[in-house]
Amino acid sequence: MVLLGPPGAGKGTQSKRIMERYGIPQISTGDLLREHVSRGTELGVVAKSIMARGELVSDDLVCNMVRQRLMQPDCKRGYILDGFPRTAAQAGWLDALLEDELFDNSCPTKAWPIVIRLVVDYNQLLLRITGRRSCPTCGRIYNVHFQPPRFDEVCDEAHGTKLVARNDDRLEVIQPRLTAFEEQTRPVAEYYRQTGRLRSVNGDQPVDEVTAEIIKIIEDHQA
Ligand code: AP5
Repeated sequence: MVLLGPPGAGKGTQSKRIMERYGIPQISTGDLLREHVSRGTELGVVAKSIMARGELVSDDLVCNMVRQRLMQPDCKRGYILDGFPRTAAQAGWLDALLEDELFDNSCPTKAWPIVIRLVVDYNQLLLRITGRRSCPTCGRIYNVHFQPPRFDEVCDEAHGTKLVARNDDRLEVIQPRLTAFEEQTRPVAEYYRQTGRLRSVNGDQPVDEVTAEIIKIIEDHQA
């Protein structure tokens, strides 16, 4: 499954829920890149300043990283791509990869990923991004406006851990991220629309309602 949507649309929030329900991994290119940055790998060193400016990391680097992740055994039963593909070139690359490397040729029916786009109002996106906090210990995501912790800025689960804001959730980086989405990622939705694979979900709804719509699309697809 591919989950598309602008920054703050709820891709990470929904991916985690789908992952738990179906027991398939969430592959977030943003999380993978942040991991490279924190480990200081060669890719992380290149990606760090690009991400801090709110721009996209080059297609070559990201596709290579995704290829390695998709080859892991836990992806055999399926996976959720969160934040990938993000350019038309990445979408074409993914289709070619699925065609060439991942489909078992003895399987009579090829299963293209379901592509779900979360559609969210611009002002709501700003509130979600500026209000986002996460726990550096357990990874749980909060929002000071919509899903606040019980005690101000402290994780409910990892007791005493102070919540942090993401480096690229600063106001001056949000606009370049939204611009990158408009200019480079909108064509991806169009690519999937033209191939009849795109489904849209109103991501402005409460989290549970968005999840319910996504599950319905998955179950209809399986049926
Ligand atoms: P990435 O980490 O993918 O960030 P993003 O796409 O900007 O998305 P976000 O993580 O900001 O938002 P989300 O949609 O996951 O929302 P979330 O669930 O957290 O990418 C970061 C950077 O990495 C990019 O800028 C780029 O540089 C690089 N990169 C990544 N992938 C790349 C690629 N393929 N190619 C090139 N470069 C790449 O929710 C947000 C907030 O809203 C949370 O606080 C949450 O609690 C709240 N919330 C969620 N749903 C709801 C709801 N329904 N109602 C109320 N609040 C909600």
